Amino acid sequence: MTVPTDAAPRAVVIGSGIAGLLTALHAVERGCLVTLVTKDVLEHANTRYAQGGIAGVMFEDDRVDDHVHDTLVAGAGLSDPAAVRVLVDEGPQRIRELIALGVAFDRDESGGFVKGLEAAHSYPRILHAGGDATGTAIEKALVARLRASAVTVIEHAFLIDLVVADGRVTGVELLVGETDAAPGRRETVHADAIVLATGGAGELYAHSTNPEVATGDGIAAAIRAGAAVADLEFFQFHPTVLEGKADAAGLEGKADAAGMAVGKSFLVSEAVRGEGATLVDENGRRFVFDMHPDGELAPRDVVARAIARQMDAQGGRPVLLDATHIHSSDAGERAAFLGRRFPTIDAAVRERGLDWAREPIPVTPAAHYLMGGVSTDLFGRTTLPGLYGVGEVARTGVHGANRLASNSLLEGAVFGARAGDAIAADAASSSWPQPASAPQWESATTPALEPRILTTERRGSSAPPSRSAPPDGVRPQFVTAESGDDAANEAPAFSRAALQELMWERAGLVRDEEGLRRAATVLAAWQAQRRVPVTEHDYEDQNLLLVATELVAAARARRESVGAHFRADHPAAGTPQNPDVAAISATGTLP
Ligand code: SIN
Repeated sequence: MTVPTDAAPRAVVIGSGIAGLLTALHAVERGCLVTLVTKDVLEHANTRYAQGGIAGVMFEDDRVDDHVHDTLVAGAGLSDPAAVRVLVDEGPQRIRELIALGVAFDRDESGGFVKGLEAAHSYPRILHAGGDATGTAIEKALVARLRASAVTVIEHAFLIDLVVADGRVTGVELLVGETDAAPGRRETVHADAIVLATGGAGELYAHSTNPEVATGDGIAAAIRAGAAVADLEFFQFHPTVLEGKADAAGLEGKADAAGMAVGKSFLVSEAVRGEGATLVDENGRRFVFDMHPDGELAPRDVVARAIARQMDAQGGRPVLLDATHIHSSDAGERAAFLGRRFPTIDAAVRERGLDWAREPIPVTPAAHYLMGGVSTDLFGRTTLPGLYGVGEVARTGVHGANRLASNSLLEGAVFGARAGDAIAADAASSSWPQPASAPQWESATTPALEPRILTTERRGSSAPPSRSAPPDGVRPQFVTAESGDDAANEAPAFSRAALQELMWERAGLVRDEEGLRRAATVLAAWQAQRRVPVTEHDYEDQNLLLVATELVAAARARRESVGAHFRADHPAAGTPQNPDVAAISATGTLP
C-alpha cells in the first residue's frame, strides 16, 4: 500500500455502495488522500438490498462472449459494446477481489460456487451470498475494509452541490450536522477529484424497491453543474415485489428482515423465477408466454409489462408468483428449501402472513434501477473535468435500454475500481478526456431556478435523436408551461408522495405523450412554487423534482418503444438495433 503524503491527490467520494467503496479503496491504494462522504451511515446504501447476486464469467464452461451477448441483447441494442466488453472482461477479476476482501459467495458441498440463474442470462452465472443476501454480504465486507483503511469517513453529510471553478469541479458543498432538533450547517470541501457514487432515484416512484436514500442527489447536482446526462428515460421496473402492507398488517414503521420498512415494496428476487417459480393470473394461467417465448425468464422489461397488462385485465389486482411446485413435491421440504435458498425473502414473506411453500403470493412491478445517469467514459470521467461518476448514478453505456439482471453490482465493482485507479494519474495530467460514447444530448435545463421544461423536439420528424451526436435541428428548447393548461391549474400542492404518484401514473411502465405532457406541466408548476431548501429533505425534494423533469423530457423526446421505455402511442420499436447486436442476431457470433 502506498502511504498518502500531503502532496497526494485529494479525492472526495460521495456515496457508500459497492461503487463508492471500491473507488475509495482503489484510490487510497494508489496514494490518494480519500474522504468518503455519505448522507446516512456507511452501511445504508442501495447495495445492501441487492438480493440476486453478481453476474460474472466464473465457470469454465461459461464464455465471456456469451455474457457480452446477453448484456447487449437485454440492453435492446442501445448498450455501448466497448463498455460492455470492459464490464464482462474485468468482472471476474473484481469478483475475485471481493472474495479476497472477505465476501463469502455461497458454495456447494464440493466447494464450487453455487450457480444462480436470472432472466435473459444464457448461463447460470450469478454468484450469491447468504442465499439472497448478496448485497448485504458485499456491503459488510467492503465497509469493514474501508474502516480499516486510511480513508476518512464522514457520515450524515448531504451533498448540496458541486463547486465549479473555471470549468472544473473543485469541491463539494455539504450540509452537515442536521438533527431533528437543529438545522444543518453548510461546509465546503475542496479536492482534485470528486466522485459521485450516490446511486439512483427510486424515490421518484410511488412503488419502488429502493431504500428512501435513493433520491437522485448526484444526478441532480451534476445537472446543475453542467455535466452531461443521458438515457434518463430508461428506468427499469422490477417485475416482482410484494406490495407494502403496513396498514393491514399493523406493521407501520417497522423494518423487515432485510432492514427495509415494511410499508415499502419488498423485492422478490428474479432468482426465485430462476429456481423455477412461475407467474400466473388469477385463474392460475401462465401469462408471460403470451408476450415472450422465454416466459418468466424473458428480459425484465418484458415481464414487468406483461404483469402490468395482466393486472389491468384483472382490475388492478396483483398477479401471483407461484413457487408451490419447485424443488420438491413435499411442502415441508419445499418450505425448508425456500428458507435456506432465500432466507431474506422467506422472512419478509412470512412477516406478511404468507406461506409461499403452499400458496402463490401476490406480486406487482415496482421501480428498481435507473439505467441512465451522468455520462461517463470507461474510467468514470464525466464531461466536467475533476468529476467522476460510478455505480447507478453513472451512465457508462453498459445497460442500454434495459439492464441485464445482476449486472449492477458488477458495474459498480468494475467501474468503481477503474475510477479509483484513474484518479491519481488524472490529477497529475493537464488533459481531461471526454466520454468516448457521446451522450445522447446534453442536459441544458436550469429548472432549479426557473419554471421551465426541457424538450428535445426534432422538428418535422418523429424519430428520436441519434445517440452518437446531437442530430441536425435538435436542440433543447425551453417551453414555459401553458398558463391555461388544466394540468397546471389542477396541480396539487407539491409533496413527495404527490410527485411519486405523478411519476408512477404518467412516466411509469407505460407512457404516452398526453400523460408525459401533463406530467411536465405539473412538474413545471411545482418548480414555480418551490421554496428555498433548508433541510436535507427539502434538498432531496428539489433533486427529485429536477431528475423527474429531465426524465419526463427525455421520455417525451423518445417517440418509440425500446427496452424499459414503452410508449403506448408509439408501441413499435423504432430505433434500428445497434449494428453489433444486429450482427449477433444475424450470425450468432460477436463482432
Ligand atoms: C433481483 O434479485 O431480482 C434483482 C437483481 C438485479 O436487479 O440485478
